[in-house]
Amino acid sequence: MKIKSAEFIKSAVKPSQYPPADFPEIAFSGRSNVGKSSLINTLLNRKRLVKTSSTPGRTQLINFFSINTEFSFVDLPGYGYAKVPESVRKEWGPMITSYLSMRKSLKGVVLIMDIRRIPGIVEMNFIDWLSDLNIPQIIILTKADKLSNMKQKKQLIAIAQTLCVDKNDLIMFSTKTGQGKDNIWNAVKKLL
Ligand code: GTP
Ligand code: MG
Repeated sequence: MKIKSAEFIKSAVKPSQYPPADFPEIAFSGRSNVGKSSLINTLLNRKRLVKTSSTPGRTQLINFFSINTEFSFVDLPGYGYAKVPESVRKEWGPMITSYLSMRKSLKGVVLIMDIRRIPGIVEMNFIDWLSDLNIPQIIILTKADKLSNMKQKKQLIAIAQTLCVDKNDLIMFSTKTGQGKDNIWNAVKKLL
Protein backbone atom coordinates (compact mmCIF):
# COMPACT_ATOMS: atom_id res chain seq x y z
CA MET A 1 0.00 0.00 0.00
CA LYS A 2 1.38 3.38 -0.96
CA ILE A 3 0.80 5.85 1.86
CA LYS A 4 0.42 9.30 0.35
CA SER A 5 -1.02 10.88 3.49
CA ALA A 6 -1.79 9.82 7.05
CA GLU A 7 -3.35 12.34 9.36
CA PHE A 8 -4.78 12.40 12.85
CA ILE A 9 -8.39 13.58 12.60
CA LYS A 10 -9.71 13.62 16.17
CA SER A 11 -10.29 11.80 19.43
CA ALA A 12 -13.71 10.81 20.61
CA VAL A 13 -15.42 9.18 23.56
CA LYS A 14 -19.03 9.10 22.33
CA PRO A 15 -20.76 8.80 18.94
CA SER A 16 -21.67 12.49 18.70
CA GLN A 17 -17.92 13.21 18.64
CA TYR A 18 -17.01 10.76 15.84
CA PRO A 19 -16.00 12.26 12.50
CA PRO A 20 -18.50 11.69 9.67
CA ALA A 21 -18.63 8.05 8.53
CA ASP A 22 -17.59 8.99 5.00
CA PHE A 23 -14.78 6.49 4.45
CA PRO A 24 -14.37 2.76 4.99
CA GLU A 25 -12.82 2.25 8.41
CA ILE A 26 -10.65 -0.37 10.13
CA ALA A 27 -10.35 -0.43 13.94
CA PHE A 28 -7.42 -1.79 15.95
CA SER A 29 -8.14 -3.45 19.26
CA GLY A 30 -6.34 -5.46 21.91
CA ARG A 31 -5.02 -5.52 25.43
CA SER A 32 -3.25 -2.54 26.91
CA ASN A 33 0.39 -2.29 25.87
CA VAL A 34 0.10 -5.10 23.31
CA GLY A 35 1.33 -2.81 20.52
CA LYS A 36 -1.78 -1.48 18.76
CA SER A 37 -0.45 2.02 18.25
CA SER A 38 2.98 0.72 17.18
CA LEU A 39 1.33 -1.58 14.63
CA ILE A 40 -0.56 1.35 13.09
CA ASN A 41 2.64 3.40 12.86
CA THR A 42 4.45 0.51 11.18
CA LEU A 43 1.66 -0.04 8.65
CA LEU A 44 1.70 3.66 7.78
CA ASN A 45 5.52 3.96 7.73
CA ARG A 46 5.31 6.66 10.39
CA LYS A 47 7.39 6.70 13.56
CA ARG A 48 5.24 8.87 15.76
CA LEU A 49 1.88 9.50 14.10
CA VAL A 50 0.23 7.49 16.85
CA LYS A 51 1.55 7.94 20.37
CA THR A 52 3.07 4.77 21.81
CA SER A 53 4.40 4.14 25.27
CA SER A 54 6.04 1.52 27.40
CA THR A 55 3.45 2.41 30.06
CA PRO A 56 0.20 0.50 29.52
CA GLY A 57 -3.00 2.48 29.14
CA ARG A 58 -1.49 5.19 26.93
CA THR A 59 -4.41 5.35 24.51
CA GLN A 60 -7.56 6.21 26.43
CA LEU A 61 -9.75 7.68 23.72
CA ILE A 62 -10.95 6.51 20.31
CA ASN A 63 -8.51 8.09 17.87
CA PHE A 64 -9.41 8.53 14.20
CA PHE A 65 -6.83 8.74 11.39
CA SER A 66 -7.43 9.47 7.73
CA ILE A 67 -5.25 7.63 5.21
CA ASN A 68 -4.81 8.84 1.61
CA THR A 69 -8.20 10.58 2.02
CA GLU A 70 -9.55 7.15 1.07
CA PHE A 71 -10.04 5.22 4.28
CA SER A 72 -9.67 5.54 8.06
CA PHE A 73 -7.85 3.73 10.82
CA VAL A 74 -9.13 3.84 14.36
CA ASP A 75 -6.86 3.26 17.36
CA LEU A 76 -8.96 1.94 20.23
CA PRO A 77 -7.94 2.11 23.89
CA GLY A 78 -6.55 -1.16 25.23
CA TYR A 79 -8.42 -3.28 27.73
CA GLY A 80 -7.34 -5.29 30.73
CA TYR A 81 -4.95 -2.91 32.41
CA ALA A 82 -5.66 -2.59 36.11
CA LYS A 83 -3.77 0.64 36.70
CA VAL A 84 -5.95 2.63 34.34
CA PRO A 85 -8.07 4.88 36.57
CA GLU A 86 -11.39 3.34 37.57
CA SER A 87 -13.32 6.12 35.80
CA VAL A 88 -11.58 5.30 32.51
CA ARG A 89 -12.07 1.56 32.92
CA LYS A 90 -15.77 2.01 33.55
CA GLU A 91 -16.04 4.04 30.38
CA TRP A 92 -14.09 1.57 28.28
CA GLY A 93 -16.89 -0.98 27.84
CA PRO A 94 -19.63 1.41 26.68
CA MET A 95 -17.13 3.49 24.69
CA ILE A 96 -15.85 0.53 22.67
CA THR A 97 -19.11 -1.37 22.39
CA SER A 98 -21.05 1.63 21.11
CA TYR A 99 -18.32 2.39 18.58
CA LEU A 100 -18.13 -1.19 17.30
CA SER A 101 -21.85 -1.82 17.22
CA MET A 102 -22.93 1.51 15.73
CA ARG A 103 -20.23 2.67 13.36
CA LYS A 104 -21.71 2.38 9.87
CA SER A 105 -18.41 2.73 8.03
CA LEU A 106 -16.60 0.02 10.06
CA LYS A 107 -15.34 -2.70 7.68
CA GLY A 108 -13.47 -4.82 10.18
CA VAL A 109 -11.42 -5.08 13.35
CA VAL A 110 -7.75 -5.93 13.63
CA LEU A 111 -7.41 -7.88 16.88
CA ILE A 112 -3.91 -7.70 18.26
CA MET A 113 -2.55 -10.25 20.69
CA ASP A 114 0.85 -10.82 22.22
CA ILE A 115 2.28 -13.98 20.65
CA ARG A 116 3.72 -14.99 24.03
CA ARG A 117 0.34 -15.13 25.74
CA ILE A 118 -2.39 -17.74 25.29
CA PRO A 119 -5.67 -15.84 24.84
CA GLY A 120 -8.18 -16.04 27.68
CA ILE A 121 -11.89 -15.63 28.19
CA VAL A 122 -11.79 -11.88 27.50
CA GLU A 123 -10.42 -12.46 23.99
CA MET A 124 -12.82 -15.34 23.26
CA ASN A 125 -15.84 -13.31 24.37
CA PHE A 126 -14.71 -10.37 22.29
CA ILE A 127 -14.27 -12.54 19.18
CA ASP A 128 -17.70 -14.12 19.71
CA TRP A 129 -19.29 -10.74 20.23
CA LEU A 130 -17.76 -9.35 17.01
CA SER A 131 -18.88 -12.47 15.14
CA ASP A 132 -22.43 -12.00 16.42
CA LEU A 133 -22.34 -8.46 15.04
CA ASN A 134 -20.98 -9.81 11.71
CA ILE A 135 -17.84 -7.70 12.02
CA PRO A 136 -14.93 -9.31 10.11
CA GLN A 137 -11.74 -9.82 12.11
CA ILE A 138 -8.04 -10.03 11.37
CA ILE A 139 -6.09 -11.63 14.21
CA ILE A 140 -2.48 -10.55 14.68
CA LEU A 141 0.11 -12.16 16.96
CA THR A 142 2.53 -9.36 17.63
CA LYS A 143 5.96 -9.01 19.27
CA ALA A 144 7.04 -12.11 17.31
CA ASP A 145 10.65 -10.85 17.58
CA LYS A 146 10.55 -11.83 21.25
CA LEU A 147 10.44 -15.52 20.32
CA SER A 148 12.71 -17.79 18.27
CA ASN A 149 11.28 -19.08 14.99
CA MET A 150 10.63 -22.43 16.58
CA LYS A 151 8.79 -20.94 19.56
CA GLN A 152 6.78 -18.70 17.20
CA LYS A 153 5.50 -21.78 15.36
CA LYS A 154 4.64 -23.54 18.63
CA GLN A 155 2.72 -20.54 19.95
CA LEU A 156 0.94 -20.09 16.61
CA ILE A 157 -0.42 -23.63 16.84
CA ALA A 158 -1.34 -23.32 20.53
CA ILE A 159 -3.15 -19.99 20.02
CA ALA A 160 -4.98 -21.24 16.91
CA GLN A 161 -6.19 -24.26 18.91
CA THR A 162 -7.34 -22.09 21.80
CA LEU A 163 -9.24 -19.76 19.49
CA CYS A 164 -10.57 -22.63 17.34
CA VAL A 165 -9.27 -21.03 14.15
CA ASP A 166 -7.00 -22.25 11.35
CA LYS A 167 -3.37 -21.29 12.04
CA ASN A 168 -3.18 -19.85 8.52
CA ASP A 169 -5.76 -17.29 9.59
CA LEU A 170 -3.41 -15.83 12.21
CA ILE A 171 -0.74 -13.33 11.16
CA MET A 172 2.54 -13.16 13.07
CA PHE A 173 3.93 -9.65 13.23
CA SER A 174 6.76 -7.57 14.66
CA THR A 175 7.33 -3.84 14.61
CA LYS A 176 11.02 -4.53 15.16
CA THR A 177 11.55 -6.70 12.06
CA GLY A 178 8.55 -5.75 9.91
CA GLN A 179 7.63 -9.43 9.73
CA GLY A 180 3.99 -9.86 8.67
CA LYS A 181 3.45 -6.28 7.52
CA ASP A 182 2.59 -7.22 3.92
CA ASN A 183 0.24 -9.96 5.09
CA ILE A 184 -1.61 -7.49 7.29
CA TRP A 185 -1.96 -5.00 4.44
CA ASN A 186 -3.32 -7.71 2.15
CA ALA A 187 -5.90 -8.66 4.76
CA VAL A 188 -6.81 -5.01 5.43
CA LYS A 189 -7.16 -4.28 1.70
CA LYS A 190 -9.59 -7.18 1.35
CA LEU A 191 -11.80 -5.69 4.07
CA LEU A 192 -11.64 -2.19 2.62
P1 GTP B 1 -2.03 1.18 24.97
O1 GTP B 1 -2.35 2.35 24.10
O2 GTP B 1 -1.44 1.56 26.27
O3 GTP B 1 -3.18 0.24 25.09
O4 GTP B 1 -0.85 0.34 24.26
P2 GTP B 1 -0.67 -0.11 22.75
O5 GTP B 1 -1.33 -1.42 22.54
O6 GTP B 1 -1.04 0.98 21.81
O7 GTP B 1 0.89 -0.40 22.70
P3 GTP B 1 2.09 0.51 22.13
O8 GTP B 1 2.03 0.51 20.64
O9 GTP B 1 2.09 1.81 22.83
O10 GTP B 1 3.35 -0.38 22.53
C1 GTP B 1 3.58 -0.79 23.86
C2 GTP B 1 5.03 -1.19 24.03
O11 GTP B 1 5.31 -2.38 23.29
C3 GTP B 1 6.03 -0.15 23.54
O12 GTP B 1 7.11 -0.12 24.43
C4 GTP B 1 6.44 -0.68 22.17
O13 GTP B 1 7.73 -0.27 21.78
C5 GTP B 1 6.40 -2.19 22.41
N1 GTP B 1 6.14 -2.95 21.16
C6 GTP B 1 5.10 -2.80 20.32
N2 GTP B 1 5.16 -3.66 19.28
C7 GTP B 1 6.29 -4.40 19.47
C8 GTP B 1 6.92 -5.47 18.73
O14 GTP B 1 6.48 -5.95 17.68
N3 GTP B 1 8.08 -5.98 19.26
C9 GTP B 1 8.63 -5.50 20.43
N4 GTP B 1 9.74 -6.09 20.85
N5 GTP B 1 8.06 -4.49 21.13
C10 GTP B 1 6.92 -3.94 20.66
MG1 MG C 1 -1.98 2.77 22.17
